[in-house]
Amino acid sequence: MSTAVACATAHPNVALAKYWGKVLAPTNLPAVPSLSMTLDSLSTTTSVGFGPGLDSDRVVINGRSATDAEARRVSSLLDQVRVAAGLRTRAWVETANDFPTGSGLASSASGFAALALAATKAAGLEWDSARVSDLARQASASAARSIFGGFVTLMAGSADTTFLAAEPLNGTDDWQVAISVVITTFQPKEVGSTQGMAHTRATSPYYDAWVEHAPSLFERARVAVLARDLDELGTVAEESAFAMHACAMGSAPPLVYFSPVTLAVIEKVRSMRRSGVPAYATMDAGPQVKVLSSAANAAQVASTLREVHGVEKVIVARPGAAASVKLVGQST
Ligand code: PMV
Repeated sequence: MSTAVACATAHPNVALAKYWGKVLAPTNLPAVPSLSMTLDSLSTTTSVGFGPGLDSDRVVINGRSATDAEARRVSSLLDQVRVAAGLRTRAWVETANDFPTGSGLASSASGFAALALAATKAAGLEWDSARVSDLARQASASAARSIFGGFVTLMAGSADTTFLAAEPLNGTDDWQVAISVVITTFQPKEVGSTQGMAHTRATSPYYDAWVEHAPSLFERARVAVLARDLDELGTVAEESAFAMHACAMGSAPPLVYFSPVTLAVIEKVRSMRRSGVPAYATMDAGPQVKVLSSAANAAQVASTLREVHGVEKVIVARPGAAASVKLVGQST
């Protein structure tokens, strides 16, 4: 029986072609393909040890005990690891983000990527990245992408899919681009993405149109990354973000993730573009804005966005590394 302690680090990612909506199946499969960039300057670090003597999984997030809902999501991933490794012992999990949790900054992506990697390693499973990505995907689909560095794709699932991992777009992570992460609030978001997607699917008259349209946005984004075409990637990233949010806003009752500061940041991005600085906005299930630009323009873009009234903080990120893990000791 393994009593190793493993410590993993993973970076969040920002989808430039969005996933929004799940296949009706129990294993958390995205209904549309997505493409993301892993962010180097934000990270989650997670340690896991399967400890003899624990009567339940102990989960600590940013120094506090996990809520019941959070702990259940962690335990269900750990249960899969226990089954695969033939372990019966409970685990302790300690995880911390160096950025705000649960406010649309993709903490579930880096969180479940780091958890999947640390838990499989601590359990003695020698899984390759694709298998770890498939495991992470079952907890949070965007987490599948955070296993890999640079630009990463995740295909859509279908009702009979039994394995679905993200894949890196090889040879693209040295592209000199940046994403400025514009934090408009430190408050946690009100409607999480899983709940938001289910609500959109059930009530938005635009949901089917979104599912039909998203693959062509994904394909344009993929071709743009391979061609290192920033203007096309930025253009399609904005189309994808606004199509996703339009679909969510069409739900009943409407699902609106934007705040007045979100809109002010979007307007500033447009005015930068009009003045000749190529910058493009994308928003996830929260009020933060992520702004794509060349690496050379990133400092200017970030300082312009810091001037927008209501902006709390801007963090510049470049394409980040794949998630990594090491064994750090023995559980007692
Ligand atoms: O990974 P989830 O299930 O938390 O959903 C992520 C959804 C978006 O961030 C809005 C889009 C995406 O593709 O990351």
